[in-house]
Amino acid sequence: MRAMAITYVIPVGVAILVYVSLHLLLLYTHNKREPPLLETSIPFVSPIIGLNRKKTNYYVMLRDKYNLPIYTLRIPGSKLYVVNSPALISAIQRQYRTLAFMPIVAKASINVSRFSKTASEIIILNSNGDDGYWGYIMTFHDAVAPSLVPGADLDGMNRAMLKLVAVSLNRLREQAATNVKLFGWVRHQMTLATTSAAYGPSNPYKDPTVEAAFWTFKAGMSQLILDFLPTWTASEAVTALDFSASAFENYFRDDDHAKGSALVQARYKHSIDHHMPLNDIARSEFANGVALLGNTVPNTFWMLYHVYSDPSVLEDCRKELSDMVAHSDNAEGTRLRTIDMSKVKTSCPIFLSTFKEVLRLYSTSVSARLVMEDHMLDNQYLLKKGSTVLMPSPVQHHNATVWGENHNIFNHRRFIASATGKRPSPAGFRAFGGGTTLCPGRHFASTEILAFTAVMLLQFDIKPKTGHWPKSPKTKAEFWEATSSPKDDFEVEIRPIESEVMDRDWAFTLSDLDQPIELSAEDLPLTEM
Ligand code: HEM
Ligand SMILES: *[C@@H]1O[C@H](CO)[C@@H](O)[C@H](O)[C@H]1NC(C)=O
Ligand SMILES: *[C@@H]1O[C@H](CO)[C@@H](O)[C@H](O)[C@H]1NC(C)=O
Repeated sequence: MRAMAITYVIPVGVAILVYVSLHLLLLYTHNKREPPLLETSIPFVSPIIGLNRKKTNYYVMLRDKYNLPIYTLRIPGSKLYVVNSPALISAIQRQYRTLAFMPIVAKASINVSRFSKTASEIIILNSNGDDGYWGYIMTFHDAVAPSLVPGADLDGMNRAMLKLVAVSLNRLREQAATNVKLFGWVRHQMTLATTSAAYGPSNPYKDPTVEAAFWTFKAGMSQLILDFLPTWTASEAVTALDFSASAFENYFRDDDHAKGSALVQARYKHSIDHHMPLNDIARSEFANGVALLGNTVPNTFWMLYHVYSDPSVLEDCRKELSDMVAHSDNAEGTRLRTIDMSKVKTSCPIFLSTFKEVLRLYSTSVSARLVMEDHMLDNQYLLKKGSTVLMPSPVQHHNATVWGENHNIFNHRRFIASATGKRPSPAGFRAFGGGTTLCPGRHFASTEILAFTAVMLLQFDIKPKTGHWPKSPKTKAEFWEATSSPKDDFEVEIRPIESEVMDRDWAFTLSDLDQPIELSAEDLPLTEM
């Protein structure tokens, strides 16, 4: 009896001692001027469990529970300042040197691409611009962004992408019905169209082994980013990267990028200008597929899911888009239908609203900034050097004051100005991030997602194999991902619409001066966001 009591008492005693000392450690290492520390039940451990279980919803839960503009979370080895207030987000984005993104990008890309020592040194050198405006990372954005802003280069890549989508869907229409798993099918379609537009006729992704390798690589990204013994914990991803790097090395060595997009050429030139070894250029290019494809694929899936699973959404969008279609005959006598994507972007408010609502609901992005030196944020909060600032988009996208009590519900008309009369503050819509790190690929991605969805829904019906669409499918997202994917794929039948007779082909055009649509507060005019 006594022995038993002791065997209980000792561990319990030790547990209490550990618990108390962890609490003291928390308090002792927390300055009163720092953002308030949340009293989580088990110091250092509760946030890890919470984030693992609830993912980004954990931040929404903590916001709803404590209602603080900014707070401190402690996990082993890190101090996190999590930001809820839109005003503080704007203040943080203005301090882009002190609250920096680039050092995080530099370290993450070295871990992910598994660069050589030479390349890693090139990447790290002056990565936050402390010694002036030079260096690989510092000048990367300005070297590459021009190829992605609305203009001739972007139009060129968009036109190539639209042509590939048209060819692929024209082919699909020749079959009576196609049975596929929806997510897997979208992934394949978007991968080929996007990468062929980016890389040109010698696109390495045309090799199915490279395509498969990319998704294997992406599946191991978390372990690669954290550099948590990846050759052991993500060995397949490491093999996929090494294999594809040699395919991309051949691509560049043969000068195939000369026939590719301005984007790929700009990236290659930037690396060569900084004396990056060819194998590292190849690694970096392959890893960049995560930016090119990682969000486009799931957002296209969610567009199709929401349009087809709700007859009223389908009807609204079809009606708007039908008015955009022009009919003509081409030289061979084939009846041609043409849809001008530039017009779609200016004249289909419900369709655009559906897209923005998808972006709002499935965004899981958490913008991170590294605190480079002690900083008083907004003259109110002390941010300590070495800590990380986090700005989770779901917190903004689920703010009841901005979006109403129905913020958890998909409302395809939500972004039509007249329907709500209200619009969120500039920091309130963050699917593409914001400030100096606002996603440069947002215009390319949007044109692609809208075009693919538009032509799908004008030509095809999609029905789930089981007869009914899954209601609010379960989602999944790794900590670094900006868009969630469906947890389970499901089978659908894709069938051409009866009235779509066979002797018609589809084409897309872009008017000569393609205009951007507003996708963030930074995209003027701000009238409808
Ligand atoms: C729907 C599709 C997309 C979504 C939702 C998306 C979202 C994002 C987000 C949330 C960020 C981080 C911003 C921050 O932390 O403040 C970002 C950054 C970035 N995105 Fe995208 N993205 C998409 C498509 C693309 C595409 C197609 C490309 C390339 C062509 C691209 C290239 C980039 C790059 C290079 C950055 C880093 C920005 C920098 O270093 O300044 N994205 N994106
Ligand atoms: C990269 O890996 C190192 C360990 O090798 C780790 O300390 C660091 O946090 C990782 N970088 C990022 C951005 O996660
Ligand atoms: C929601 O957004 C409004 C307007 O930007 C802001 O004033 C408010 O603090 C936010 N609410 C929460 C709970 O974060």
